[in-house]
Amino acid sequence: MASLNSLSILILDDEKLVRDELGEFLVDPNFSVLKAGSPSEAFDLMSANEIDIAIVDVNLPEMSGLDVLEKVKKEYPEIEVIMISGYSEMDSVIHSMRLGASDFFTKPFRLRDVESAIERTKKFIHLNKSLIEVKRNYSIISEEFYKAMGYEIIGESPQMKNLINIIGKVAKTDNTSVLITGESGTGKELVARAIHYLSSRKENCFYAVNCSAIPESLFESEFFGHTKGAFTGAVDAKVGWFEAANKGTLFLDEIGDMQLNLQTKFLRVLEDRKIMKVGSNVEIPFDTRIIAATNQDIDRLHSEKGFRLDLYHRISSFIIQLEPLRNRKEDIPLLLDYFVKYFNRMMGKNISEIDGAVIRRLLEYEFPGNVRELKNMVERAVIICDTNRLNSSHFQLSSLKDDNRKSNRVSDENLDLERVEMNCIKKALERSNNNKSRAAGLLNITWQSLDRRIKKYKIEI
Ligand SMILES: Nc1ncnc2c1ncn2[C@@H]1O[C@H](COP(=O)(O)OP(=O)(O)OP(=O)(O)O)[C@@H](O)[C@H]1O
Ligand SMILES: [Mg+2]
Repeated sequence: MASLNSLSILILDDEKLVRDELGEFLVDPNFSVLKAGSPSEAFDLMSANEIDIAIVDVNLPEMSGLDVLEKVKKEYPEIEVIMISGYSEMDSVIHSMRLGASDFFTKPFRLRDVESAIERTKKFIHLNKSLIEVKRNYSIISEEFYKAMGYEIIGESPQMKNLINIIGKVAKTDNTSVLITGESGTGKELVARAIHYLSSRKENCFYAVNCSAIPESLFESEFFGHTKGAFTGAVDAKVGWFEAANKGTLFLDEIGDMQLNLQTKFLRVLEDRKIMKVGSNVEIPFDTRIIAATNQDIDRLHSEKGFRLDLYHRISSFIIQLEPLRNRKEDIPLLLDYFVKYFNRMMGKNISEIDGAVIRRLLEYEFPGNVRELKNMVERAVIICDTNRLNSSHFQLSSLKDDNRKSNRVSDENLDLERVEMNCIKKALERSNNNKSRAAGLLNITWQSLDRRIKKYKIEI
């Protein structure tokens, strides 16, 4: 497609009159129109030209319009198909929509119908194009990750696609400090590494330092370094983290656990971009990108623990919030598959199948420990599995639902809500003598919606 407004349209109809009439309707500087009288002619044109829309009659020689539609969708999925049908062929139209036709109009056609079918399809093409663009960006970046780090960031949920795009963008800024927030196990360190390895600093060091693990007394010497003999026990000079990560990236994990007086020192260093080693009064400039992470809520950290807001602003030029796994459940099967393959390789196993029941149960689970919990679960399952198929017994799935209740209040509330809903449905069925239509009327929902819920709660009637 040359531009969004210019479309190349192929008309396939065995009646010359129809082809010509439609062709006249479509006289427009933005349309280039090709015509075919038979499916074979149409497929020749498709293979030789870039077609955006094919307008296909339901009744054709050689093969039916529906068969043409199926073949187009298989061989040229990027072509949108509009069907032309007679009034008596509405069944075919319905069938064609199921097969992926984007629109239809009926014969004899009116200009308005043809125009609006083209207009709707054009919008559809536009939308698809932008989706493909997002997808392409996403896979280019995923591939870059793989090349740069040797491992991938898995996930195709909208949140993960968005995250991957953001990582690609923030990695290109060389010095912007980034704060990554998210529950434990959501992938904060993975994201920090990705930013580093996709940035121009990738040839230099990435250091991850856990702020909560460094005792207050050693803090300055750890981060800024010390000179030989600076204090008792300082037998050798030491390079601190800031200097060691010069030209690279310093990942400050669990920044929320940093002591208050240390926060003040830290802020000064980050503002000056210079450190002074313990025992020295020489200022050493550093060029280190800072990425910080916390699994705590910054507002609460500030109000309850007094975390310095000025330090927070300094480290959070760009904030990335990672979504808990339970809010992007569509990623669970992908991660499951990825981790099974990963542990297969690590342990020399050959597990190639996973019971559907396992996936169903995992999708019900809330994963308080997020991706790390899933990864650990899969590791255990792969260790104990002796066949090539993982089943529920490898996963200790029976305890999962109870864990949900213990670990997650929201899910408790959901369960209660579900119970209330189930009781309402039972009452409505009782009152209507198990007449589903009347019960649906009482509940003010559709029959189908009631039926779905009856199945969901396994209510016997
Ligand atoms: N999207 C993902 N694709 C592949 N692996 C992932 C993904 N997210 C997380 N992981 C894996 O899950 C594990 C936990 O991730 P990570 O250590 O980055 O989490 P975290 O948020 O830093 O956790 P914590 O707060 O407990 O430190 C790691 O082994 C990581 O490689
Ligand atoms: Mg971490």
